[in-house]
Amino acid sequence: MKSAELRWKFLDFFKDRGHKIIPSASLIPEGDSSTLFISSGMQPLVPYLLGQKHPEGTRLTDSQKSFRTEDIEEVGDGRHNTFFEMLGNWSLGDYFKKEQLTWIYSFLIDEIKIDASRLYATVFRGEEVIGVPKDSESVDILKQVFKTYGIDAKDVDFPENDGMQDGRIFYYPAKKNWWSKSGTPEKMPIGEIGGPDSEIFYDLGPDLKKHENSEFKGALCHVNCDCGRFIEIGNSVFIEYKKTQQGFEKLEQQNVDFGGGLERMTMVSEGLDNIFETDLFLHIIKKIEGLSGKRYRDDRKSFEVIADHIKSATFIMGDGDGISPNNTGQGYIVRRLVRRAIRFGKKLGITEKKWTKEIATIVTADYKDVYSELEKNITFIGKELKKEEEKFNETLERGLKELNGIKKWWGQIRRSSVNDMGSSGNYSQGTDQKREARELGVKLFYLYQSYGLPIELSLEELGGIIFEDEAIKSFNEELKKHQELSRTASAGMFKGGLADDEPETIKLHTAHHLLLAALQELFGKQVKQKGSNINSERLRIDFSFDRKITAEEIKKLEDMVNEKIHQGLDVVKRELPLEEAQKIGAEMEFGVKYGNMVSVYFIEDKKGNAISKEFCGGPHVKNTSELGTFKIIKEEASSQGVRRIKAILE
Ligand code: ALA
Repeated sequence: MKSAELRWKFLDFFKDRGHKIIPSASLIPEGDSSTLFISSGMQPLVPYLLGQKHPEGTRLTDSQKSFRTEDIEEVGDGRHNTFFEMLGNWSLGDYFKKEQLTWIYSFLIDEIKIDASRLYATVFRGEEVIGVPKDSESVDILKQVFKTYGIDAKDVDFPENDGMQDGRIFYYPAKKNWWSKSGTPEKMPIGEIGGPDSEIFYDLGPDLKKHENSEFKGALCHVNCDCGRFIEIGNSVFIEYKKTQQGFEKLEQQNVDFGGGLERMTMVSEGLDNIFETDLFLHIIKKIEGLSGKRYRDDRKSFEVIADHIKSATFIMGDGDGISPNNTGQGYIVRRLVRRAIRFGKKLGITEKKWTKEIATIVTADYKDVYSELEKNITFIGKELKKEEEKFNETLERGLKELNGIKKWWGQIRRSSVNDMGSSGNYSQGTDQKREARELGVKLFYLYQSYGLPIELSLEELGGIIFEDEAIKSFNEELKKHQELSRTASAGMFKGGLADDEPETIKLHTAHHLLLAALQELFGKQVKQKGSNINSERLRIDFSFDRKITAEEIKKLEDMVNEKIHQGLDVVKRELPLEEAQKIGAEMEFGVKYGNMVSVYFIEDKKGNAISKEFCGGPHVKNTSELGTFKIIKEEASSQGVRRIKAILE
């Protein structure tokens, strides 16, 4: 089914069930400065979920324009995009789980003819600490629903460890089955609302062998596994809790917030496994083929980045709020999108002038019947894109040349510090590496200021960087010095780049030490950390290693780290004379202190044997038992001889 038909079918389906169709809100939040963009249908409706009367009543349905910056790096895998439409239906203290789950499956199966046997459900498994029980009610309803379609649905706990076990309905913890604007219960600020949810997954097919062909093949596959076999197509959130000082309190009304991505639903209903092959991207992809003379299949990533980024920029600029490519806030994101698209355009060999504007014209034509604001603002969008393209093109070549110089400089100092370390064993090199990364940050700031190369783009061109956070930090400091940027603008700008001391980040920091130790135990002491970046979502480590890590080895590494977590090892900080720390062979990559005394973090067993010892400024957890379950979510090449692992704690 084509996207336009699907969109209308969805809205009509809920209209027939007493819902009023409401228009999409702007992508730019009104009266809410906590985020730069609307990233879900729920955000603009918060007052009504809290009890304020909505003029259209208690049952609403819509298609909300949404934008998620955090997915920028994921674009290129065929299923992620930054701008998307979220189809939604809402109960504002009206119906609840029974109606919602029955209706939404009926829509998918009866209306858009999705094969019921390919659908799987997840539910919240309950968490004592927040006082919210397991969602058995949804399970009972879901069993009934599946029965209607001739499926005997078995419910299964903890598929993360034991795989599908012929289940149809799966219980997961809050990390997966709790929804709020800020994420999991502990991330929610006081006053925020949220609740347990039930997600719908579509099985792209065991016959595709996606799992076996992925880096996850050593582990058992389950619906939330990242191998690509299953794709989430919708989520029913039961918003009935508010976080207070005392814990989670029930709201006065029980609400339903359903959201499903139009792009993914269209993909599934068309029998495709890539959103960029749906009619929501088709014309754009064709246009890029025309402009570049290349075929989509020759370089999927470049095509997807360009198509996604210019579409997002068009929608953000087309909202009538006057957002244009700029150095702060939303404007900076638009600048980053457009410039990254131009860079990928160069890679594809596009030489035409004003081509980004031509793509915006196609986006506008494709969407004009649904979002008339695009057509109204097309002159503004076109003018701004043309200006941005000219401005960037003027300096891009020179900027890239300069960046090449920086790349050489960086390669040289990297080589010399590695050599120094090899011959003298001088661990104070860690201090130098941090200082050099900061120097790099200053150079990249100069590049940004003179040639308009956003730091994210420069870092991407440079490849894996040692102490990337340090480079970003010093870039930010320069930026503040020069432009006195507002805090919110710069904080929103580099998600993941800023060091913070949220509990999640601290836990991941300790897990990072355990992982390095496990890598060295498995592959030998010659494995050295080459870079690192930690935020509250995940850790990332770059390390010297010259081949792909097999799925079995990934599993092994996970098991090794999890075993250390289960053993409840103490994490101890000791101040030692530099010489002594060197003598005992402490890893030097992290935060070596200046001067003769250094701090070293030890993770040790009950007998005092060190599992890990690293020069480090901290902070860390007190005991590894605080960490939860360690999981590797990605393993890839970072640069020549350097691999990159991303991992999370669940
Ligand atoms: N608000 C829910 C989500 O974004 C539906 O997943």
